[in-house]
Amino acid sequence: MWKIANLEIESHVVLGPMAGVTSEAYRKFLKPFGVGLSFTEMVSDCGLFYGNENTLAYLPTQNTDRPVGIQLFGSKIENMQKAIEIIQKANIPYDFIDLNFGCPVPKVTKTGAGSSWLKKPQKIGEYVSQIVALSSKPVTAKIRLGWNDELVNFTQVVEQLEKAGVSAITIHARTTEQMYTGKADWNALAGLKMQMKIPLIISGDIFSLDDAIKALEVTKADAVMVARGAMGKPRLVEQIDKYLRTGVRLPDATLFEQSEYLKKYAQLLIEEKGERQAMMILRGIAPRFFNGYPGMKGLKSILSTNLVTKADLDTILSQIN
Ligand SMILES: Cc1cc2nc3c(=O)[nH]c(=O)nc-3n(C[C@H](O)[C@H](O)[C@H](O)COP(=O)(O)O)c2cc1C
Repeated sequence: MWKIANLEIESHVVLGPMAGVTSEAYRKFLKPFGVGLSFTEMVSDCGLFYGNENTLAYLPTQNTDRPVGIQLFGSKIENMQKAIEIIQKANIPYDFIDLNFGCPVPKVTKTGAGSSWLKKPQKIGEYVSQIVALSSKPVTAKIRLGWNDELVNFTQVVEQLEKAGVSAITIHARTTEQMYTGKADWNALAGLKMQMKIPLIISGDIFSLDDAIKALEVTKADAVMVARGAMGKPRLVEQIDKYLRTGVRLPDATLFEQSEYLKKYAQLLIEEKGERQAMMILRGIAPRFFNGYPGMKGLKSILSTNLVTKADLDTILSQIN
């Protein structure tokens, strides 16, 4: 068990926020595999107070998994203040606010939000301490190693964030300029934890149980964040959680189990988004459930192009038994 402020968290596996993926259905689907903590997709502070319906749909509802953090991004304190006021008034169930200082997408960084904050470590502390003061729930932050190889300043940023009063920090062990290329550099974070009084969550390239073991060993982080690695491979969460509790290594899921997992996820996604939109989203995600299983090329291609109705999905999956 570990804690973010007073929030007790049972599992050391954290589900990484992914725009377009980690909606409530996805979080609820993965929760029983052993997720200790999840996040909403990133939500724009301005999007919230302009009443943009899409933005509101990203927020947790009364059916949500818990504990869950609402991840916000922005560049101006006034906007963040308004966004948090809206969330606090709306009776939305959530456990903490997570600030996104890791998004490398130019559309976001150009506006001074996301990981462009890493270029202004003096300002980040002032911004975050104001947010901590106005939020009724704990505030956490997600960062990268730095902007680029010339500016690897996570030590300074972590110090500022801690001083500002955040309750946990996630670090994606890449720079902004790396985007998602190269290899996450867990070694860069060795020794950091000793200087921190709050929990550290390590993120980046956790695709197997051994990746998780190694990342935790190198960084001494309190928890490991799984993002792309569990897309289509929910058993990964279970393997890590089980191993950390008992030392037991679970086998990979069978093809039949993968098919059953996909059906379950599809059902939750249909409940959340309606059949048509759920199938469109599944075109991107469903094929991943069959990565690494021989002879599935044809089926994966059909899933990525032909899914329109739930009946289509059932027909395609009926080939697997
Ligand atoms: C499609 C996609 C969307 C993402 N969206 C977000 C996001 O909204 N907020 C965030 O903090 N990180 C986001 N990330 C980053 C992940 O949370 C994670 O830190 C990163 O993918 C590294 O972990 P991995 O190598 O295990 O996937 C996203 C990553 C991907 C691949």
